[in-house]
Amino acid sequence: MTHLTVYHEHDPVRPELATGDPTVLAGHLAMAGVLFERWPAEHPLPTDAGSDAVLAAYAAPIARLKEARGYRSVDVARVPRGVPDAAALRAKFLDEHTHTEDEARFFVEGSGAFYLHLRPRVLRLVCEAGDLLSVPAGTPHWFDMGADPHFTAIRFFTRPDGWVAEPTGDPIAARFPAYAGPEAV
Ligand SMILES: [Fe+2]
Repeated sequence: MTHLTVYHEHDPVRPELATGDPTVLAGHLAMAGVLFERWPAEHPLPTDAGSDAVLAAYAAPIARLKEARGYRSVDVARVPRGVPDAAALRAKFLDEHTHTEDEARFFVEGSGAFYLHLRPRVLRLVCEAGDLLSVPAGTPHWFDMGADPHFTAIRFFTRPDGWVAEPTGDPIAARFPAYAGPEAV
């Protein structure tokens, strides 16, 4: 289940809010200026589906989103369960960073947790299939795919050079609860 936890940036232990209510969490994200929408994600994908197969299965919503939001390109981030280099893959996204463009992701399988550092708060959003999240450009954030990662996300880009991360150097991510998987939410 999609789940939002709101913390003060200096208190990663006692959340100000924890909710799985779709209306409440969407409202909080909207108030924070974060685009969040639910889109149908109902195409079963074979275990060995490559990027082309994922893009073909979701061609219709991809076209609508590109048209509506001006995205120029898409690709697929797919981490199948049991991937051998899970720890290294997970570590790549665990440090707080920013991008010069919005980080737009449409989850079509599995789950993962985004942490948005919107001072003075940290918003932790567990995304599941059907969630479209766009982290605004310049917003410090990190992503935890968990110790047993499994997700497929379609990534949207507005710039031809795509995804470039600028580390903030702030060790804040280590203080906040890691993502333990959907059953623990
Ligand atoms: Fe990012």
